[in-house]
Amino acid sequence: MSAQSQNAVFVQDSPFLRACRGEAVPYTPVWFMRQAGRSLPEYLKVREGIPMLESCTRPELVAEITMQPVRRHGVDAAIFFSDIVVPLKAIGLDLDIKPGVGPVVADPIRTRADLARLRDLEPEDVRYITEAVGLLVGQLGAVPLIGFAGAPFTLASYLVEGGPSRNHEHTKAMMYGDPELWRDLMDRLADISSAFLKVQIEAGASAVQLFDSWAGALAPADYRRHVLPASAKVFDEVASYGVPRIHFGVGTGELLGLMGEAGADVVGVDWRVPLDEAARRVGPGKALQGNLDPAVLFAPTSAVEDKARQVLDTARTAGRGHVFNLGHGVPPNTDPDALTRLVDFVHRESER
Ligand code: CP3
Repeated sequence: MSAQSQNAVFVQDSPFLRACRGEAVPYTPVWFMRQAGRSLPEYLKVREGIPMLESCTRPELVAEITMQPVRRHGVDAAIFFSDIVVPLKAIGLDLDIKPGVGPVVADPIRTRADLARLRDLEPEDVRYITEAVGLLVGQLGAVPLIGFAGAPFTLASYLVEGGPSRNHEHTKAMMYGDPELWRDLMDRLADISSAFLKVQIEAGASAVQLFDSWAGALAPADYRRHVLPASAKVFDEVASYGVPRIHFGVGTGELLGLMGEAGADVVGVDWRVPLDEAARRVGPGKALQGNLDPAVLFAPTSAVEDKARQVLDTARTAGRGHVFNLGHGVPPNTDPDALTRLVDFVHRESER
């Protein structure tokens, strides 16, 4: 057997993929959203002078940044270094990521005529992604790589608002005011997101996460009617690959059942809902990911460990596959050593 195909066998048997499939694990696997590229000094060093979106187009740099937290913390999965707006930039939209702000779109999408600017994403548009994933699969050995995309609602929020937004006013105005235009926008974005995920899976990613970070702004009835169909389309489009599909949002306690219904194999939970309660809301047959409050990382080690132990105990009560994670991304300014200690603690504390 070639080294590559032997690695593929080990990857399938990794604690992370086993937990996603709800199988027995030797210990609870752990990774962190936003583990790649935050406060790590080695990250700041390699990124020096290179704008965020440009860094995403350099395969060697992407591979290096993706590997950094794996080497430093010993996490059980790598998250691909890129951004949810990369496919939108790749189809020609005029957008940028402003440091300390987030994605900013030059001409927001507000009318039917604007939709014409959202063409399909072709694999040739993101050759650098295929290349970077290929490099990583070679370097990661038995550690699985998670590919990702933004969910249609969260992408739509950036496109319609023109940038980050607290209340998503323009986005909701379109959703309520012109449901047909909204539906067509969501459908376009579902095609782009699923094409972006397919590129990553075909290049070797062994799980995918759909980030609907801002879906928590929606009431369940609106989520069901105006958002779920598009996210379900993304999950359907990649179902046949058989890789675990993770669905994550923030403040989505009231939506957990619907987010599972959209087609995920693993539902991400923020810190507001305990995992045993989340299990009841999500229903049977799906694993859970989460859910330590990221702010806890700024407390003394003993407090971090108490809180992490609670997460593990609650997950045990939930009685299903569990991937340990934070309830949202690693905050900037987090002490990297706090993350390394936490990985070690989760592994030791959950050993079976
Ligand atoms: O470790 C990882 O998770 C790797 C890759 C990753 C990035 N963004 C890199 C990035 C992932 C998975 C994302 C997803 C993403 N991007 C989301 C969903 C996750 C979430 O946090 O809810 C969202 C909403 C975005 C949009 C976006 N891009 C934001 C809000 C920001 C932060 C702006 C800031 O500086 O505070 C970005 C920029 C960004 N994406 C950075 C990184 C490492 C920082 C850019 C830099 O270092 O200059």
